[in-house]
Amino acid sequence: MKEKFTKTMARNIFLGGSLFFILLFLALTVGTVRALPQRDHRENITPIVALGKRVWEDNNCIGCHTLLGEGAYFAPELGNVYTRRGGANGGKEFIKGWIQSMPSGVTGRRQMPNFKLSEQELDAVAEFLKWTSEINSAKWPPNIEG
Ligand code: HEC
Repeated sequence: MKEKFTKTMARNIFLGGSLFFILLFLALTVGTVRALPQRDHRENITPIVALGKRVWEDNNCIGCHTLLGEGAYFAPELGNVYTRRGGANGGKEFIKGWIQSMPSGVTGRRQMPNFKLSEQELDAVAEFLKWTSEINSAKWPPNIEG
């Protein structure tokens, strides 16, 4: 090997390195896009789950909460709130009861407004959060408290 580091060698390292990482990036992107449909259990998006997502959006829940890490940091993570509050043993009832009893009015605690949701909307948003908790999110959030 020549002692001298030439411009051609530098260019080849640059081009080779760039090509390698572009290909790696493409491979990872294709991998993710192919893996997602198996992880989000989209076949379970029933009309009530879809309605719950609409309620979630119309009331801007994400303006205070995070959902699987995305959103605002004013209020708790809700991706796993269904599991955190009992799962099949009362998770839905907890979520509905919680939303109905807001604001708590407890001094020193952050407050959540009352959205005056109908029974159907409450049911739907609880179903949506149940569906969210069942996404294969590679164990995110890392602990049950979000
Ligand atoms: C203005 C901010 C704000 C908005 C908007 C908001 N929340 Fe909250 N939410 C909070 C706060 C603050 C808490 C925690 C209050 C406490 O612990 O006393 C909370 C707590 C909760 C909890 C209980 C979390 C737990 O760990 O037990 C649920 C469920 C919840 N919110 C659902 C919703 C849903 C559904 C929406 C949209 C319809 C929504 N929130 C919109 C502020 C908000």
